Amino acid sequence: MKTFWLLALFVFLIYLYDGFIEYNQFLTNKVSSITPRFFSPNNPKAYTVTNSSFIPPSPSKDPISLIPNTEYIYKPNPFDIDDSENLKTLGLSCTPDSFGYSKSQGNNVFPYHGYPKCSVLNNQNDTYLHIDRKENILYMNCPKGNNGKIVTGPVDSRKFTKGAEIFEKWEVRKYDGKENAKNIEYGLATCEDDNEFMQASLVPIFNQTAYSMAKSKTTSKPKIIFFLTLDSMSRRHMFRKTPKIIDFLNTLNSNSSSEFSSFDFKLHNVLGADSISNQVPIFGGLDKFVSDFSGNQNIDRLGDTALWNILREKGYISLLGLENCDNYFPGALGRNPQVDYAVNPFYCAVQKYTPTRFDKGYELVQRCLGGHQTHWYILNYTKTVAEINKGVNMFLYIHLNSAHESSGQHAETMNDDVTEFLDDFLKSFSKEHEIFIYLNADHGMRYGNWYKDLEAYIEQKLPSLFIIASKSLLDQFPYSYNSLAINTQRLTSKLDLRETTLFIAGIVEKTSFSVNLLEEISPMTRICEHAGIKAWDCSCITMSEISHPSKEVADVIEYLKDYAENLINSASYQHPLYPLGSVCKKIVLEKVTKIYHVSINNVNEYFKLEVTSSSRKNMKFQINYVLMSDKAYKERRLNQYRPEVFAYNAPVRIKILSISRIDKFAGPCEAKARNHGIKAEFCACVDE
Ligand SMILES: *[C@@H]1O[C@H](CO)[C@@H](O)[C@H](O)[C@H]1NC(C)=O
Ligand SMILES: *[C@@H]1O[C@H](CO)[C@@H](O)[C@H](O)[C@H]1NC(C)=O
Ligand SMILES: *[C@@H]1O[C@H](CO)[C@@H](O)[C@H](O)[C@H]1NC(C)=O
Ligand SMILES: *[C@@H]1O[C@H](CO)[C@@H](O)[C@H](O)[C@H]1NC(C)=O
Ligand SMILES: *[C@@H]1O[C@H](CO)[C@@H](O)[C@H](O)[C@H]1NC(C)=O
Repeated sequence: MKTFWLLALFVFLIYLYDGFIEYNQFLTNKVSSITPRFFSPNNPKAYTVTNSSFIPPSPSKDPISLIPNTEYIYKPNPFDIDDSENLKTLGLSCTPDSFGYSKSQGNNVFPYHGYPKCSVLNNQNDTYLHIDRKENILYMNCPKGNNGKIVTGPVDSRKFTKGAEIFEKWEVRKYDGKENAKNIEYGLATCEDDNEFMQASLVPIFNQTAYSMAKSKTTSKPKIIFFLTLDSMSRRHMFRKTPKIIDFLNTLNSNSSSEFSSFDFKLHNVLGADSISNQVPIFGGLDKFVSDFSGNQNIDRLGDTALWNILREKGYISLLGLENCDNYFPGALGRNPQVDYAVNPFYCAVQKYTPTRFDKGYELVQRCLGGHQTHWYILNYTKTVAEINKGVNMFLYIHLNSAHESSGQHAETMNDDVTEFLDDFLKSFSKEHEIFIYLNADHGMRYGNWYKDLEAYIEQKLPSLFIIASKSLLDQFPYSYNSLAINTQRLTSKLDLRETTLFIAGIVEKTSFSVNLLEEISPMTRICEHAGIKAWDCSCITMSEISHPSKEVADVIEYLKDYAENLINSASYQHPLYPLGSVCKKIVLEKVTKIYHVSINNVNEYFKLEVTSSSRKNMKFQINYVLMSDKAYKERRLNQYRPEVFAYNAPVRIKILSISRIDKFAGPCEAKARNHGIKAEFCACVDE
């Protein structure tokens, strides 16, 4: 009996404790909803460094009216890397200081590499593993006739997976002659008795039900809306590394018998820092975007807002394919977006069973699989999807990772392959389909040593966007040519692509952050805020000059100067590989000659300083800083910014975004520093 009461008391105590925890949680939530964080944008009375509030003006419509296609001739000059310079004379409210590396700088930082063809490297023309859909068999044709080993998939019903979720699922088996391929969509194989599965095949399984459904809803000449996304390709990097693609685009405009027009968007700004924060809002709108969610993962998280679900009602079959095996897209989309065709687990298998990786740290190793680059397989898959679904509308999205690495050189491998693919694709499908291709990048490169340069920092924010469209499709929209042509010279961003895509399919979805590129002009006065772009992702935040700093601001500036001085010296004078001061002298930052500033809000601001140093003749730096004291930003989208110090009177975190030299510093010291692996901009050589 005693035991019973003791037990009862115990249970009661646990109950009480749980109740307390719950109540406590309730109290905390209540308190924080009544009194928000002191240093937060919701409390404008609390400011951290400068007391200024920034209210973006509303955009006003341009006073021009669009010229109808019947009276407008679209005849652009051949696209050129430096075309963007002309934008500086247009008086746009958003004009970046720089559009990235100049031609010569770019060639210096990203020298030509010269990747051989995989067929030469691996001494084989195609692959020795095949899926033949006519016979529906999988077979190998190894040159020595030997029987190797294979793995195949899919292994479960998930369309996308994080690597760790699938790595243990495949089973390697001996290849004993041809197999039924009814349920096999991809395979990797080796002809030898080794563990490098360099033979591959990836061939879609036709879905007759989806096709028939689409066919019954396709009423006019079927359309193909196709996002061909090149991960980490700034506009300038496309010109540097894939000139054949550019030539191809130019030929479409210059060849009078061409059925296509192409457009080069010179000021296309990112919406977020990484792939998903740029591309997933195109799929599902800005409100629906999260980078990760809890609960059941085997869902289509974007649901009714997903382009594939909206477009299905208009007779579109869909493809969503990724040439990678990372955690981001599966995290943001769930594992089962309701697309008809998906590519992703195949590349997880490539990651596991071949020496190839798609990570950005993986440098200078060419990504070959048999006689082809890894991206060739998803391109071939895409073409096959389009072939077997001829005659219905299609929404295709594929994401190539060839440029997703830190040397900035591997992008070259797309020069031939993507050009050939595009040429072939247009030739194969233009008769039966209206085609609209967004040849786009999610963002520019954002890794590698050179990323410390201001130019690189800007290029990260200015991804490429080219549109290729059937002339007959553009003619269905009375103002399309003039509208597209003007928009190539205006600020555009990712949400515009969603509105435009839906519009092509006959659906109107107006948002305050987007313009329809086919019949609306992005205003001259449009700035990043108007396109849903946060200041830290913006290529053109306008700074104002502070000529007479208050005592308070002057103190901050002094602090910022010291901070930069330390950072510069730690990479030169105190370089860890050399005795102190053996290659570069100590650099002393002296006079701050210019102070530029922009307030994002009361707790986030940017400073840009120009600072001179007499450590070397004419030495002058331009340094960009972000200062923030709102913790919420760290939790949200800024996790890749690691504020390095805590400073000043409020809990302000400071990060140096970029340090660049604005004097001409080329010469023997530059060469010497580079030879030592020291950032030349930061070095004042000892022997000068
Ligand atoms: C900030 O400046 C405004 C005027 O520019 C002033 O009205 C306000 O009181 C200042 N806030 C603080 C907290 O000093
Ligand atoms: C690849 O194809 C080319 C041209 O058809 C041929 O000359 C070459 O011998 C082939 N290489 C191999 C390894 O089969
Ligand atoms: C490439 O696509 C074609 C059909 O377009 C198909 O026959 C072939 O098997 C595919 N090759 C690979 C390696 O997937
Ligand atoms: C084929 O498409 C239909 C309609 O979208 C879908 O319900 C079905 O699950 C698909 N079948 C396969 C095997 O993916
Ligand atoms: C021009 O386009 C036509 C039709 O697509 C094509 O046959 C021809 O080869 C093209 N000419 C050039 C110079 O590219």
